[in-house]
Amino acid sequence: MVTCFSSADESAHYGFSVCMLLEQYRDQLGWERDGVVELGSGDATAISDVVASLPGLRVRGFDISAPSVEKARENIRARGVDDRYTVELGDFFDQADSSGGPQIATVISNPPYIPAPDRDILMPELWGGVYGNDLVLQLLKTGYDNVVAAVASYSDPVTTVRTAEDAGYRVANFLAMGLDYGTYSSEPKVRDHIRRLCDEGRGWAGDDEYMVAVALFTRNADVPGDRADQLLRALQL
Ligand SMILES: C[S@@+](CC[C@H](N)C(=O)[O-])C[C@H]1O[C@@H](n2cnc3c(N)ncnc32)[C@H](O)[C@@H]1O
Repeated sequence: MVTCFSSADESAHYGFSVCMLLEQYRDQLGWERDGVVELGSGDATAISDVVASLPGLRVRGFDISAPSVEKARENIRARGVDDRYTVELGDFFDQADSSGGPQIATVISNPPYIPAPDRDILMPELWGGVYGNDLVLQLLKTGYDNVVAAVASYSDPVTTVRTAEDAGYRVANFLAMGLDYGTYSSEPKVRDHIRRLCDEGRGWAGDDEYMVAVALFTRNADVPGDRADQLLRALQL
């Protein structure tokens, strides 16, 4: 049983990409005024560094894993950003918008995206449903103007991007990176399932590698362009 998500390369890519996208669209996203919320902070190392390097940024994070929240609070204090980054224990969808709709324009997330037939995997909190994209789809239906989220090549990215389009989002920009299978994708039950999904045309993966892109999905008319097709091409191996 694994209790706290750990994948150094993936977390670093998530943090770096969030930082780049918040910087690039600083004037349009309004995060200096309202802050952002985060689904699934994990141990918070990735976004602590972002908060430290962007002085105007405030982040309200949530995680359903108690050991992760404990570790996150420790890391946030150690990084000296506890006045601007908080992590609460609980389901993002129950807590972040308990007032009945997003009050904040921007959500960031490296969401659970492990596809598997059921939740009985190494770290059940990382289960993304049968196709791996349940949580990002739920985020895209929650009503934020801007969703900065990691999209994995083996988690039915075409459905994710088309669902985003149907909900009125464009892909403003993204940062893609190749990753080797880590602890969670290598679990035999997960690896076999990924292979089946790719054979069915629900994603792309090599025998031991896949792609992840952190993308800004936006409904903000001030943010130009749509790179949805480029994003899908970048995810193909
Ligand atoms: C892939 S990890 C990302 C952790 C961290 N953001 C990083 O990139 O290093 C996903 C995290 O989401 C958390 N999580 C899963 N479902 C959640 C939910 N409904 N609400 C809040 N957190 C959730 C998991 O416990 C896990 O820590």
